[in-house]
Amino acid sequence: MKILLLGKNGQVGWELQRSLAPLGQLIALDRHSSQFCGDLSRLDDLADTVRRTQPDVIVNAAAYTAVDKAESEPELAHTLNALAPEVLAREAAKLGAWLVHYSTDYVFGGGGDEPWREDDPTFPLNVYGQTKLLGEHMIDWICPRHLIFRTSWVYGARGGNFAKTMLRLAQQREQLTVINDQFGAPTGAELIADVTAHAIRHVFQNKADDKTLAGTYHLVASGCTTWFEYAKHVLAQAQKIQPALTITAREVTPVPTSAFPTAATRPYNSRLDTRKLQAVFGLTLPDWQQGVDRMLAETL
Ligand SMILES: NC(=O)c1ccc[n+]([C@@H]2O[C@H](COP(=O)([O-])OP(=O)(O)OC[C@H]3O[C@@H](n4cnc5c(N)ncnc54)[C@H](OP(=O)(O)O)[C@@H]3O)[C@@H](O)[C@H]2O)c1
Repeated sequence: MKILLLGKNGQVGWELQRSLAPLGQLIALDRHSSQFCGDLSRLDDLADTVRRTQPDVIVNAAAYTAVDKAESEPELAHTLNALAPEVLAREAAKLGAWLVHYSTDYVFGGGGDEPWREDDPTFPLNVYGQTKLLGEHMIDWICPRHLIFRTSWVYGARGGNFAKTMLRLAQQREQLTVINDQFGAPTGAELIADVTAHAIRHVFQNKADDKTLAGTYHLVASGCTTWFEYAKHVLAQAQKIQPALTITAREVTPVPTSAFPTAATRPYNSRLDTRKLQAVFGLTLPDWQQGVDRMLAETL
């Protein structure tokens, strides 16, 4: 199996380099790659990359992910999140290849307190969500063999993440204030990459089921929390792992979203219902704490 991976150095892309390697020949690109173009803003060159590499599977982990900046750069966000997936979908369809793509809970309006199902009505609240939704539609319309994984609150062990920021601030400040009215499940890039590799294997072992397997799936860790509870968990767990850690923050204070105004509106309800993914691919998604604790054990 030949796999073309785009966005190899993002949080998810980095973990995909590991999880996809045993499946076959992996051509992993980022926007600076030279032999083949991996820059999603160069649409013609991107199409050329697919034609020249002739993959069986394209995994697109690249995206415009700067949610607030997207409000002032809507054209670039549109190119990367909608037009590039359209190009990939067209080229994959011509080859009969599978296209694996990632999307977000930001396609939903964020109201209520029930986990969103895959076919719930969409209503993105910001430019990032709008462009990601358009990317989903393009793939859905053009490329019959596709898997779109909607995820949320992604963290990776590599580079910065929310947990590391909380730990740093807790060692510098006397008080921490954290949003307590947005609900979701912190999801490790490692988990997303492992599930992706499993799903690809499953699809290739069950060729006759192309039509039933293709589609959109919600992929997040199990359970639900708020950023405030998440921060408290991180600090408690960090102190368990490293009792000598000097936490200067005496309290963590819950605040509403309105305490931190941002350019892009955030949804309150980022819960995603993962029953479809678990049933179709025979998977059990671990609780969010498991991945966070593991990441802390590795980084501390
Ligand atoms: N992070 C989240 O909380 C979250 C939540 C829901 C869904 N998702 C989705 O999950 C997927 C993976 O996200 P992630 O968390 O791994 O994001 P990430 O760490 O921001 O990675 C995105 C990657 O895209 C690359 N990229 C940006 N512009 C590019 C261009 N013109 N050409 C090629 N590559 C370009 C970035 O490269 P540079 O580093 O060089 O800019 C980066 O490596 C995305 O589809 C995202 O929308 C993420």
